[in-house]
Amino acid sequence: MNTRHGRLFSLHAEGNAWTARLPSVQATESLGQCLGQQLTGGEVIALRGELGAGKTVLVRGIASGMQIDPAVVTSPTFTLIHEYSGHLQLIHADLYRLEHLRELAEIGLHDYMHASSVVVIEWAERMKDHLPADRLDILLEHQQRSRRTASLRATGTKSRDLVVKIL
Ligand SMILES: Nc1ncnc2c1ncn2[C@@H]1O[C@H](COP(=O)(O)OP(=O)(O)OP(=O)(O)O)[C@@H](O)[C@H]1O
Ligand SMILES: [Mg+2]
Repeated sequence: MNTRHGRLFSLHAEGNAWTARLPSVQATESLGQCLGQQLTGGEVIALRGELGAGKTVLVRGIASGMQIDPAVVTSPTFTLIHEYSGHLQLIHADLYRLEHLRELAEIGLHDYMHASSVVVIEWAERMKDHLPADRLDILLEHQQRSRRTASLRATGTKSRDLVVKIL
């Protein structure tokens, strides 16, 4: 395991995609934290993965990297969106219960996609044709027990720059 700079995960590059091995909850938090520390505003992170894959755990790590108390991060399952304020605003959406795409407009999700906010979306595939062109896609998958893998894919220059900073 690569514990460089106190990291608890290892990251392998495959072209414009990367795979992180996440052997523990803390490793997933650590990946989130590394990403969170590099966010400058305007980024969109689209999370996919089945129930319990670790999406919310990753968001807690991202919050902590942004110097937002991770304890305030809870799944916005019913409200679809939570807003946490810090140096940069963190918008946390969970589209598990999204029934119709028009709800995206009602919650104003796209209005949050601007330079002073970071938007992280659980169950992002529910809005797949409506995601911004440049985003970091992360697929979390269960391995055995407490092991997960995260497959990261950058779809534009801003998202690629973000991953490059944590390599
Ligand atoms: N390596 C790991 N990374 C993340 N979570 C892990 C890991 N190993 C075990 N877990 C456990 O898996 C669960 C992940 O829960 P979490 O709420 O983050 O999932 P989720 O993907 O957000 O699910 P949902 O779709 O229900 O929102 C937690 O109970 C956590 O303790
Ligand atoms: Mg969740």
